[in-house]
Amino acid sequence: MKKRLRTGIIGSGFAASFHFEAIQKIHEVDVDPIGVYSPTREHREAFARARGIKAFDSAEGLIEACDIVHVCVPVSMHEHIALAALERGIYPIVEKPITGFCGDGSESFRGDIYPKRKVLDAVHESLGRIIEAESRSQAHILYAENWVYAPAIQKEREIIEKSGAQILWMRGEEAHSGSHSSTYGYWKHSGGGVMLGKGCHPLTAALYLKRKEGIARGKGPIHPQSVTGRIHSLTSLPDFSDKGHIRKNYHDIDDFSIMHIEFQDGTLADIFASDIILGGIHNWLEVAANNHRTICNINPTNILQTYNPLEEYFRDIYVVEKTGTKQGWSNPSPEEDFLNGFPQEMEAFYRSAAYDEPLESDSSLAADAISTIFSAYLSAEQDGAKVDIRNY
Ligand SMILES: NC(=O)c1ccc[n+]([C@@H]2O[C@H](COP(=O)([O-])OP(=O)(O)OC[C@H]3O[C@@H](n4cnc5c(N)ncnc54)[C@H](O)[C@@H]3O)[C@@H](O)[C@H]2O)c1
Repeated sequence: MKKRLRTGIIGSGFAASFHFEAIQKIHEVDVDPIGVYSPTREHREAFARARGIKAFDSAEGLIEACDIVHVCVPVSMHEHIALAALERGIYPIVEKPITGFCGDGSESFRGDIYPKRKVLDAVHESLGRIIEAESRSQAHILYAENWVYAPAIQKEREIIEKSGAQILWMRGEEAHSGSHSSTYGYWKHSGGGVMLGKGCHPLTAALYLKRKEGIARGKGPIHPQSVTGRIHSLTSLPDFSDKGHIRKNYHDIDDFSIMHIEFQDGTLADIFASDIILGGIHNWLEVAANNHRTICNINPTNILQTYNPLEEYFRDIYVVEKTGTKQGWSNPSPEEDFLNGFPQEMEAFYRSAAYDEPLESDSSLAADAISTIFSAYLSAEQDGAKVDIRNY
C-alpha cells in the first residue's frame, strides 16, 4: 500500500508554483498537500485558494502539521527553514542553492567588494550547521537540484556506469538574457551572483557525474579538489552598448562567470554561467570521456523544431523558457518540466522520505557545490589564483 505524506509549501512564488505542479504527478506516494505559508497574507491566501489548500499564518505551524515541507523561499531563508524542519524530524525539500551569503546586515553591504575569505568562512559555517542538524534528525535533506534528475543527465549517468567510463573533461553552462526579478541583482537577496544562481545547476550535475563515475569504477566518489574562478560584470562596463535585449543595472553581482575545476584524480570541468546570452535559455553539459562523448541538452532540446514566419501566429503559444522572439526557427519544448527533471526529482524525494530509498541529490552534493562556488569567488578576488576546495 502507498504511504501517505502530509505536505506543506513555504513560499508562494515561482518555485512554489512549479513544486505544486510537480507533486500532482507523484505515483508511488499518496501526497496530501495541506497548506502553504508565505509572509504576505494576500499572497498565501490566493495561492491556497487556487489550489484548495489551507493558508497557515506561520512557517512553524505549517511545518509541525507536515511530514515533508517544500522550502521555496529566497536563499537567505533556506538554512533557517531547513533547520526548523530537521529539528522536528520533518523532511525539507530545499531549493537550490542550499545556502549562500546574504550580507553582513548593513544597509550599505556590497557583495562585489566584500572580502571573499569572510564570505567563504560564513558559507562553511552555514553548511556545518545544516549538516549537523541533519545528522541529529530522523529526517534528511532532499536537495532540489533538478539537473541531477533531468533525463539527459540520468542517461549519461547510465552510460558512464555501464561502460566503465572515465570522465576527462566536462564543460557546461546555464545562461539567459537576465532575470526579471527586482531583487535579483542585489547580492544580499540572492546570496551571490550569477556564478551561484545559475552556475550551481551545471556545476552540481558535473559533480554528480564525477561522483558516480568514481563509485562505478570502485574508487568511491571523486570530489572537486581545486578551482580557478573569474567573474565579470559585462552589462556594467562603461562601454556596454545597450540595445535593450539584455538586462542591465545589477547592483553588486556578477553577470558572467567561469569556474575551472580540477577533481581529485586530476580531471577537469569548466562551468560557465551568465546573464548575457540571447536566444532563450542555454542549459547544457558536455562530457568528454575516455570511451565516449556526450552532449546533454537540458534546455533547449531539438525534440521539436518549428519555423514560424510571423510572431503573432504564436501569440498564445508557450515556446521555451526565456525566448526573446517566437518568429523564425525555434525549439518549442513539449515537456519542459519533464526535460528539466522537475517531476522526477519530486517522485524521488517522496520515495526517499516514505520508503527510505537512496537519494541522488543529497546535502553532501549540495554542500560540495556551494563550497566550490564560494572558493571560486575567492579565486576571482585573487584574479584567478587556484583555491583548494573543502569537501563534504
Ligand atoms: N530549480 C530551479 O530551476 C529554480 C527556479 C526558480 C527558483 N528557484 C529557487 O527557488 C527559491 C525561491 O525562488 P522563487 O523564484 O520562487 O522566488 P519568488 O520571489 O517568486 O518567491 C519567494 C517566496 O518566498 C516567500 N518568502 C520570502 N521571505 C520569506 C520568509 N521569511 N519566510 C517564508 N517565506 C518567505 C515570498 O513571500 C515568496 O512567496 C530560490 O532559492 C530560487 O533559487 C529554483
